[in-house]
Amino acid sequence: MCGIVGIIGKTAVSRQIVESLRRLEYRGYDSAGIATLEGGVILRRRAPGKLNNLDAVLSERPLSGHVGIGHTRWATHGRPNEVNAHPHATTRVAVVHNGIIENFRELREEAAAKGARMESETDTEVVAHLVTQALEEGKSPKEAVAATLKRLRGAFALAFLFSGENDLLIGARRGPPLAVGYGEGEMFLGSDAIALAPLTNRISYLEEGDWVILTHAGAVFFDENDQPVQRAITLSQISGNLIDKGNYRHFMAKEIHEQPEVVSHTLSHYLDLTTGTIAPASLEAVDFKKLSRLAISACGTAFYAGLVGRYWFERYARLPVDIDIASEFRYREAPLDPGGLALMISQSGETADTLATLRYCRSAGLKIGAIVNVPSSTMARESDVIFKTHAGTEIGVASTKAFTCQLAALAALSLAAGKARGVIDPAEEHDLVKALMEVPRLMAETLKIEPQIERLAKSLAKASDVLYLGRGTSFPIALEGALKLKEISYIHAEGYAAGELKHGPIALIDETMPVVVVAPYDHLFEKTVSNMQEVAARGGRVILITDAQGAKEAGDVYASIIVPTAHSFISPLIYAIPIQLMAYHTAVVMGTDVDQPRSLAKSVTVE
Ligand code: G6P
Repeated sequence: MCGIVGIIGKTAVSRQIVESLRRLEYRGYDSAGIATLEGGVILRRRAPGKLNNLDAVLSERPLSGHVGIGHTRWATHGRPNEVNAHPHATTRVAVVHNGIIENFRELREEAAAKGARMESETDTEVVAHLVTQALEEGKSPKEAVAATLKRLRGAFALAFLFSGENDLLIGARRGPPLAVGYGEGEMFLGSDAIALAPLTNRISYLEEGDWVILTHAGAVFFDENDQPVQRAITLSQISGNLIDKGNYRHFMAKEIHEQPEVVSHTLSHYLDLTTGTIAPASLEAVDFKKLSRLAISACGTAFYAGLVGRYWFERYARLPVDIDIASEFRYREAPLDPGGLALMISQSGETADTLATLRYCRSAGLKIGAIVNVPSSTMARESDVIFKTHAGTEIGVASTKAFTCQLAALAALSLAAGKARGVIDPAEEHDLVKALMEVPRLMAETLKIEPQIERLAKSLAKASDVLYLGRGTSFPIALEGALKLKEISYIHAEGYAAGELKHGPIALIDETMPVVVVAPYDHLFEKTVSNMQEVAARGGRVILITDAQGAKEAGDVYASIIVPTAHSFISPLIYAIPIQLMAYHTAVVMGTDVDQPRSLAKSVTVE
């Protein structure tokens, strides 16, 4: 998604703006631009593609202004070319924008009727024209922005730079996040604290509907009714060295390898590791005993974590779960249980569809819980109960460590629910908590299979389609495996419940088709093996991910990847690793942009 940066500096700001934009690269983008004031005049530099292209333009035609705004654009309205790249500007104002202005067509017509000439296809440009027309009517920059904001429908974060105003930036937020950073005689705006980390750790977040006036002297906040408000300054913990990949070639590889540590960190917040029981805080967070249903909603990888969670809550807590993708949930008009609990799962805590579902569930009278990785996110702030994942900042667009931390939190919460509802007794609690406590060690052991997967990836990279199969909790892992592969290698992949094979996908199977089967040796293993044999009988190449006993029982397959034997409760956490490594190494063989795959965004802040 788009990234926003704004700086009122003491010296030339263009270099700092580009460096801050670099820290927002993880969000995904396809063009970039910057505007500063030179002698009070707005000058812009923009370029399609990655920031290096913008860098090249700036080397040829530098900008030396002390106040400026910058943007990385993830195209929604119009192609990622120079004309559509932000900032959009008139002679009076330049604007950068994250999100969507829903009523831009009617506003464009209206502005055009008053003489505005649009250059781009974007929904953003009209904002610059509306502000300009208000300035021409004699309004001040502050009044012009306040009047324009009232005309806009949709979800957006905006930053404005005004000609002739060397000591002014205005930011606004309705939907996507925007943060203000405080420096020494300098002020900053950024999509998040990561963008601002090398510049300052003193941050205030705009609340929903807020707008803010920045000058060298500081920040003045207004709420959605234009009333002055105070917003607290917090000290961000994010390190300025965040961009460091360590010894890894990609952030994704680093993040896959961090999993034993971050999962252990996450579990330690939900379990009492000394006594091997569920931590009292997990039990007290929600009155699980009173719940008659749980409604889970999320997008992408977080949704697959929720699917695994459904199996756990239903099995270990006998708690019925409604689950749907967030973009469908609120349109299903499902009868919801006022007084019940809705659980949102999100790495970023900003995904537009999940956030809209959160608000929908709240208006239906449900209590809101959120499993989020970013504690300062909108979802965290709008929830009654926050269940944090402690994955640390995830930079790779394709989620890996956040996924397994979501699984860890869901696993622990399902046990808390089971205990509170009297479904699991102390002996089972002990047994299951012990299994969870073994996850970090088993994950570390599982990572040792990497060289084998690296070799296998060479043949996987030649496939044009790959099928993933699994049963029970391995079914969502199969779905996640297919998602990971298609996201970063661009090879078409489908995940299926193994039992559905005969209802369609079997027609696709021939000797060119690799079929990845996720099958720990558990109570469902035999049934999955039958499906595997159906694949083999049609010449399909089975890549079996299993444990030692599974490999022994399965017979001949094209390749088997053997992971450590684990309690069936925790197998999704372990089997997530080989499917991540498989996607990662296949993408490396294919030579794709692993950390920033084409067209994908880390945090999807539009519906
Ligand atoms: C995007 C990302 C995915 C992520 C999904 C949900 O599609 O590319 O990796 O799973 O959004 O994001 P969230 O931040 O809500 O977990």
